[in-house]
Formats: sequence, structure tokens, C-alpha cells
Amino acid sequence: APVTVKKICCIGAGYVGGPTCAVIALKCPDITVTIVDLNKARIDAWNSPDYKLPIYEPGLDDVVKQARGRNLFFSTEIDKAIKEADLIFVSVNTPTKKSGVGAGFAADLNYVESATRRIAAVATSSKIVVEKSTVPMRTAESMRTILEANSKPGLRFDILSNPEFLAEGTAIGDLFAPDRVLIGSLQTPEGKSAASSLIDVYAHWVPKERILTVGLWSSELSKLAANAMLAQRISSINALSAICEATGANIDEVAHAVGKDSRVGPKFLRASVGFGGSCFQKDILNLVYLSESLHLPEVAAYWRQVVTMNEYQKRRFSKTVVDTLFNTITGKNITVLGFAFKADTGDTRESAAITLIRDFLSERARVTIYDPQVDEAQIWLDLQEALPDTPLENIKKQVIIAPSALAAASNTDAVVIATEWKEFVEIDWAAVYGTMNKPAFIFDGRAILDADELRKIGFTVKTIGRGVAF
Ligand code: UDX
Ligand code: UDX
Ligand code: ADP
Repeated sequence: APVTVKKICCIGAGYVGGPTCAVIALKCPDITVTIVDLNKARIDAWNSPDYKLPIYEPGLDDVVKQARGRNLFFSTEIDKAIKEADLIFVSVNTPTKKSGVGAGFAADLNYVESATRRIAAVATSSKIVVEKSTVPMRTAESMRTILEANSKPGLRFDILSNPEFLAEGTAIGDLFAPDRVLIGSLQTPEGKSAASSLIDVYAHWVPKERILTVGLWSSELSKLAANAMLAQRISSINALSAICEATGANIDEVAHAVGKDSRVGPKFLRASVGFGGSCFQKDILNLVYLSESLHLPEVAAYWRQVVTMNEYQKRRFSKTVVDTLFNTITGKNITVLGFAFKADTGDTRESAAITLIRDFLSERARVTIYDPQVDEAQIWLDLQEALPDTPLENIKKQVIIAPSALAAASNTDAVVIATEWKEFVEIDWAAVYGTMNKPAFIFDGRAILDADELRKIGFTVKTIGRGVAF
């Protein structure tokens, strides 16, 4: 009979493991959930008495308030949590490799491997081990090999793939009511039995028909495929936005018309300054790397183009800014509103804002940045990484981080909207206009502002995907 899960350990208290396992704890009061991490500061933040959690996610503090100390625990005692658990989620980071074989494409599986080796080293009872991090195909297989080669005799390890589909900013809603939960297992009696133990966990709140069980490899590929196809939609709409800007078409009208076809669907068709986030680019590059290693160069080229188009979109936007400001921004003040890769998150991984700011700084502009959730230290870290050859003191001479949108947008030459934070729509633009150098420019990379209203105030406005009407 399938094991009834009583204790869960989650290795990795980041954007995926933290919210996912906090929600599992909330929805399963009969299961004890311990989330562990090597990073003590992160665990301390999860445990902070005033709920200053290490990640910003709407609704997350509410979940943690209800479950923490009841059946949800955050700890650095990794070995202890592994020993006690029946089921272990591995949700450590899997960044793109920066050096060695597959650098720039393949995922760095170092963290997954060391977490897996830790499980093998300390486990004294059988476990269900669940890969939760976004990983390349066949990772489950590698995890199984490591566990079997290193564990004590008589212990069983069943490996499941259970990719997470939550999007940042809406993580809690996505976890409460997922479109689907995907569980991949070996199609052996043991594999299926492990899958049904995990089904029972999710069945506490997810309708059974939304819990899909598939083979391990299908599960691993589905995660990469879902992100690749979502990113492909954005690159498709962004490619069309370039045509719109060059003609008189309006990308919102085009997207609306196309999305009305039920075969296409209306969601995820917003033109933007480029997609970011920790998953899209990484997963596509994983798919490209996989295709190449399977000797499928045409398939690799097809998916690579999605990333190429995204790079082009970012470049195209910064070029529009320079061209519009009379072909030079040297010494001019450019205000960038938004630094996170999307609204409602403080995450900056692969954010388009970073590329834009790097371009502006290379043109020797002065840049003022404001984001409601990203802290200063993170901004400096990202800019230093984007400009590795420029000493941070020199970057700091060109960049100001402002305390509010209004402060950032005042006394500047051009305002660039990089992230679709709602508060940017509510700025008193007439007041801002009064303080700006003239002509005053706004570049709306997210198409969130009312361009006609802004033009009435006096601004020159360029919106992503909007051509001049004729
Ligand atoms: C994504 C997937 O949506 C999620 O299922 C997966 O688990 C992880 O990767 P996330 O990266 O958190 O989630 O955010 P998402 O909402 O998908 O946005 C990714 C990027 O695409 C953002 O930069 C966003 O601004 C951009 N985007 C999204 C657009 O430019 N246009 C759109 O229409 C939608
Ligand atoms: C298409 C558009 O659907 C229609 O809206 C437009 O007005 C004209 O072009 P049509 O060419 O008649 O219509 O057929 P469609 O059903 O779209 O199929 C086109 C091709 O795609 C066919 O060869 C079909 O077999 C193939 N197809 C379709 C697939 O291979 N897989 C699918 O999932 C769907
Ligand atoms: P994701 O977006 O995939 O959740 P994050 O970087 O936000 O990625 O979180 C991953 C977390 O995993 C980090 O907090 C990191 O410290 C933790 N981690 C990495 N390797 C291990 C390990 N071997 N044991 C415990 N925690 C780990």
C-alpha cells in the first residue's frame, strides 16, 4: 500500500520551495512540513517574528502566519529534517552554468547533486524524493543513480518529478487553485505507489481531475515545454509589436483580435520590453542544449530563436530611447521605473530593466532607478554583474536609486517604464511634467499608461507596440 505521508522535508527555501511547501502545510494540517536551507540568513527571515519574509509574494505572509509553528517549520538542521521525513522535495536553485561544458546553456546541477548526496548520506529510512526545481530532462534518473549508489542497504528511494508551475507575484493564488498538478513517476508498481502517496498530499485541496500522472520523462519535458511555449507566445507578440511600431497598427488591438480565437486564447499576449524571470530563458536554453545533444539541430535553432527575439526586443527598445532623444543620451538623465522582472515581485533575475540600464550606462547617460520592492543592494549587485568591467564606484557615479516614483521621475529628461507596477499608472504625471526638462519624454515599455492623456499634458510618448496612427 502507498506510504501515508506524515512528515515532509523541503530542501531549499527559495521562490519555489518556500511558497509551495508553506501552502502544503496550510492545506494539510495533519502533515508536518519542515523547510530547510543552507542559508541561515534566509531561514532567519522566514522565522522573523514580524513576518519580514525573504521573498515578496502577495498573500504569502498570511499563509506563513497561519501555519508557522503549527505544522510548518523553517530550519537549517538539514540532516535532521531529512532523517525524519517520509517525503522530501528538492527545490534548490539550478542556474545556467557559467563555465565548463554547456556554459551559457546547460543547467548547473551542482546544488541538486549535493542535496541528493546529502539525502543518501543521512537517510536511515526509505524516502520518496521529489524533484521540484526546474531541471533538465533525465535529472530524476541521475538522482536515482546517486541515491542507489550511496545509500545504506535495505533502504528504498522512489524518485518523482513534480514540477512547479506557479508564477511569481501570483504564487499563492496559483498554488491554491492550480490549473494542474503534474506528477511523473516510473511506471513500475513502486513508482506508481510513490506517485499515489504524493497525490494524497495534493488531494487535500486540489480536485483529483487536476492531478495528472505521467511518466518521469514526460513530466520533466512538460515543464520545459510549458515555459518554452509561454515564452514563445511573448516573443511572437513582441515580434509583431515591432511591425506595429513601424506601421500604424496597435499591438493591443492585434493581440485582442488574435486572442479571441479560442484555439489561441486571450492570455499571455501582452507586448513588453522583453520577458525576464528565472525560468523562461533558462528553460529554453536547457531545451536547446538537450536538442543539440540529441542531434536535433533544427529543433535547437527553432527554440533558440525565442531567446534571440527577446534579446532583440530589449535592444530595439533601448535604441528607440536613444534615437528619440536626438540620437544621444550622453549626460542626459534617464529615469527607469521598475527594476523587477514583472510586477508584484521583488525578483530581478533576468529582468529586462537590467539590460536597458546597461545600454543607457554604456551610452554614458545618468540613470535614476525606482522599484517599490527591489532593495538597493540587489540593484547594485545586478548592475555590477551586468557591467563586470566597470568598478562599482564608477557605476555609482552614473546611477541614483530614488526613494519614490515621484522623486525618480522629477527633474529628468525621459521616463522609461520597465515594470508594470500599478503605482506607476497612479503617478501625478502633470506634476512630474512641470519638473522635467523639455521636451519631456515617456517610453512605456509595458503599455500601461494612457498615452493620449500624457500627450495632452505635453509629453512626447512612445508606447511599445503602438505605431503612429495614419
Ligand atoms: C513563469 C511561468 O509562468 C510559470 O508557470 C513557471 O512556473 C515559472 O516561469 P514567472 O517567471 O514567475 O513564471 O512569471 P511570468 O508571469 O510567466 O512572466 C515571465 C515574464 O514574461 C515576465 O518578465 C513578464 O513581464 C513577461 N510577460 C508575461 C510578458 O512580457 N507578456 C505577457 O503577456 C506575460
Ligand atoms: C486555417 C485557419 O484555421 C483558419 O482560421 C483560416 O481562416 C484558414 O487557415 P485551415 O487551413 O482550413 O484553416 O485548417 P486548420 O484546421 O487550421 O489546419 C491547418 C493545418 O494544420 C492542417 O494541415 C492540419 O492538419 C494542421 N494541424 C492543425 C495540425 O497539424 N495540428 C493541429 O493541432 C491543428
Ligand atoms: P528557486 O527560484 O528555484 O526557488 P532560489 O535561489 O530562490 O531558487 O532558492 C533555492 C534555495 O536553495 C536557496 O535558498 C539555496 O540556499 C538553497 N540550497 C541550495 N543548495 C542547497 C542544499 N544542498 N541544501 C539546502 N539548501 C540548498
